[in-house]
Amino acid sequence: MANRNSFLQPRPFLLLTLSLIIIAIAAASVDGSDDGAFSRPPARNVLITPHARAESEPQQVHVSLAGKDHVRVTWITDDKHVSSVVEYGTTEAGPAGKYEATASGEHTKYRYFLYASGTIHHVRIGPLKPNTVYFYRCGGIGPEFSFKTPPATLPIEFAVVGDLGQTEWTQSTLQHINGSDYDVFLLPGDLSYADSQQPLWDSFGRLVEPYASRRPWMVTEGNHEVESFPIIFPHGFKAYNARWLMPHTESGSSSNLYYSFDVASGLVHVIMLGSYTDFDSHSDQYTWLAADLAKIDRKATPWVVVLLHAPWYNTNEAHQGEGESMRSEMEELLYDNRVDVVFAGHVHAYERFTRVYDNKADPCGPVHVTIGDGGNREGLALRFKKEAVSAPLSLYREPSFGHGRLRIVDEKRAHWSWHRNNDSSSVVADEVWFNSLSASEECWPRKGGNVDGGGGLSARVGLDEL
Ligand SMILES: *[C@@H]1O[C@H](CO)[C@@H](O)[C@H](O)[C@H]1NC(C)=O
Ligand SMILES: *[C@@H]1O[C@H](CO)[C@@H](O)[C@H](O)[C@H]1NC(C)=O
Ligand SMILES: [Fe+2]
Repeated sequence: MANRNSFLQPRPFLLLTLSLIIIAIAAASVDGSDDGAFSRPPARNVLITPHARAESEPQQVHVSLAGKDHVRVTWITDDKHVSSVVEYGTTEAGPAGKYEATASGEHTKYRYFLYASGTIHHVRIGPLKPNTVYFYRCGGIGPEFSFKTPPATLPIEFAVVGDLGQTEWTQSTLQHINGSDYDVFLLPGDLSYADSQQPLWDSFGRLVEPYASRRPWMVTEGNHEVESFPIIFPHGFKAYNARWLMPHTESGSSSNLYYSFDVASGLVHVIMLGSYTDFDSHSDQYTWLAADLAKIDRKATPWVVVLLHAPWYNTNEAHQGEGESMRSEMEELLYDNRVDVVFAGHVHAYERFTRVYDNKADPCGPVHVTIGDGGNREGLALRFKKEAVSAPLSLYREPSFGHGRLRIVDEKRAHWSWHRNNDSSSVVADEVWFNSLSASEECWPRKGGNVDGGGGLSARVGLDEL
């Protein structure tokens, strides 16, 4: 049994305890929620998920989409001699069984002050069949895992939740998500809340393994991933980039902090943006985003979904204005390309806006949703601005833990629902249908844009809701 990564180092533990006490005091002092409809639960304890496998066995296993028909399997071993090999196939092989295919990949490790990570393995496997369960084993040893690939057609269902952390609330959110089937997990930033305490990244990896090894987890970074330190780690993201490698190379991005991917044979294009890297109009991210959007043919790809961490629209008192500089640089690009929906995290609450552009309701702008309510140790952002009650752009807001579901039913319609954690159960508290902008006659051709914008111009669709 290796304890190198386990949570036994006294100093970080003390620091964590101290910071939890400070957070608890801070949370208690703002806990002034006054609407009586639903009693808001406080933050719950941090869960430390212990290391319970042998040194050479895989731990923290997770899978992510990695280019057309491929999946990346990521896991960590304490033993540095384990090879970066994944055996896989469509039939259960069981212990010491034979698999149909084998792939090998690469490994990395990193240091953060006194902490040295285990060996982090990344193996890209495929081509894989759509909507198929694959069984797999990592490094030739240890338990057999399985995941299901996303379907090649619609419908497809995404589970969406940000600011997860690793508390008892995180656990219940993950159980609710796992409780009904879905295809791909989307996380708009703030994963482990390790906040430089590196063993907490390992604990988080173990907490999410039962879920993240079963379905692809696609993440982008939040402020809690930065972990920069003057002179020593000026660029930050050391742990995040090593552990949560996303398909940036596969999508033409030079940075793991922003990338895109297709699902359902390109009927849905998902773009993950980075709120904590350069985004001004001369930046690499902006240039990459403009090129990525320009490649989309909306006749072939009716749905375009964007995720980022710091919301561009927000009526909560928490984090006011933090997404504003990014919004002012990039919003026009998303608007001109008729992005359908933008999911953000950061604010620990749920909020849904109407279609919006430049602070005004606009039938050709994206729906904005804040879904930063996964259940982290900082607790809920309880206060919405008073004027928000009459703000016409914000259609629903509630400071509760929960998660969202985006079910894209066909080329024109999608169903969005928000599932509040009602203790051990999960309750749909908000839901709405909306239509792809590709089918909206009034939004094409785009003013000042490419006349053949690729929109499905023929169909006139009555807007159900938005
Ligand atoms: C997740 O759901 C699957 C399918 O119902 C079940 O087999 C599995 O045990 C669940 N995992 C957890 C950790 O609850
Ligand atoms: C929410 O939980 C409470 C207490 O567990 C229960 O009484 C109530 O029926 C639940 N509400 C819904 C809508 O499930
Ligand atoms: Fe955040």
